[in-house]
Amino acid sequence: MPIHTPINELFDIRHPIILAPMAGVSGGALAAAVSNAGGLGVIGGGYGDRDWLTRELDAAGNAPVGVGFITWSLAKQPDLLDLALERAPKAIFLSFGSIGSFTARIARSSARLIVQVQTVQQAREAAGEGAAVIVAQGAEAGGHGGSRATFPLVPAVVDAVHPLPVVAAGGIADGRGLAAALMLGAAGAVCGTVFYASVEALADPKAKDTLVAASGDETQRSSVFDLARGMDWPKPWTVRTLENAFSRRWGADLGGLRDKLAAEQRRYAEAREAGDFSTAAVIAGEAADLVRSVRPAAAIMADMVDGAAALLRDPPALRAPAQRRPV
Ligand SMILES: Cc1cc2nc3c(=O)[nH]c(=O)nc-3n(C[C@H](O)[C@H](O)[C@H](O)COP(=O)(O)O)c2cc1C
Repeated sequence: MPIHTPINELFDIRHPIILAPMAGVSGGALAAAVSNAGGLGVIGGGYGDRDWLTRELDAAGNAPVGVGFITWSLAKQPDLLDLALERAPKAIFLSFGSIGSFTARIARSSARLIVQVQTVQQAREAAGEGAAVIVAQGAEAGGHGGSRATFPLVPAVVDAVHPLPVVAAGGIADGRGLAAALMLGAAGAVCGTVFYASVEALADPKAKDTLVAASGDETQRSSVFDLARGMDWPKPWTVRTLENAFSRRWGADLGGLRDKLAAEQRRYAEAREAGDFSTAAVIAGEAADLVRSVRPAAAIMADMVDGAAALLRDPPALRAPAQRRPV
């Protein structure tokens, strides 16, 4: 049973699944793999490295993909939006900051504007500024985000911006999550953590293996790794990662970390270079429990879609007791 929602038409896709624009992780190959498997692949333009973005746009080839930016960072290099728009992307995906200075250029292009938000109020503002799709991101999400949980945030945003399509993000990594998102009124899911562990993701293979071995119990949301990376993230956003020795040492003592910042930033950069994830961050969300192997993106997509379709047809909890098996 195909799952058909308003975003299938909007983006001309077979499955209502959007790859999160994970900075430095969602490159052209992963975005193309997701699009070729029937979803919408989005390249993670992140903090705006022109050479990286050019290379990854090339790597996507002719696959119909979108491009994502961290909005406050794009404001420092607004010409990167032109670089993306020249390639006629399916979508521009903006998160974290004021979109006002970009909407006119996007509206003149063929790209649809997707805006990721963390509160109902931000959703209303993005809708008023011309977003075609709102992504309601819960705090379970890997990467930067806010404090509200996916389950109550999604239906509240759906109600607030009706009839605009809303897509759920944060903690969705299998058919159960996709089916639940649809039940909450979302028109699909944005997934990051599960695709971090895809073959095509640009993450360090050791980081992928660390994620596969981790539990969602072992994630934390804070500013500790932004300080360590020297990234000046505006409030209120924090970043969810797996816990490790570095976050356990400094997570509750950001003042202490600031006192030793130069030395700790050096140590952090060396660990990152060496692929030492007891110090360097693995950026992933609470869906870590659901990610048990590194697989091709197409296999991840197929399982998610087939799983959701089966659940929607025949929810296990509504079956007779003898037929109730875990999914
Ligand atoms: C490794 C990683 C990097 C991310 N980088 C970005 C980013 O650069 N821009 C952005 O809008 N969202 C970013 N996100 C957040 C995603 O857009 C999305 O909200 C999140 O992955 C959804 O939750 P999930 O991780 O539980 O699937 C990132 C997420 C991860 C896991």
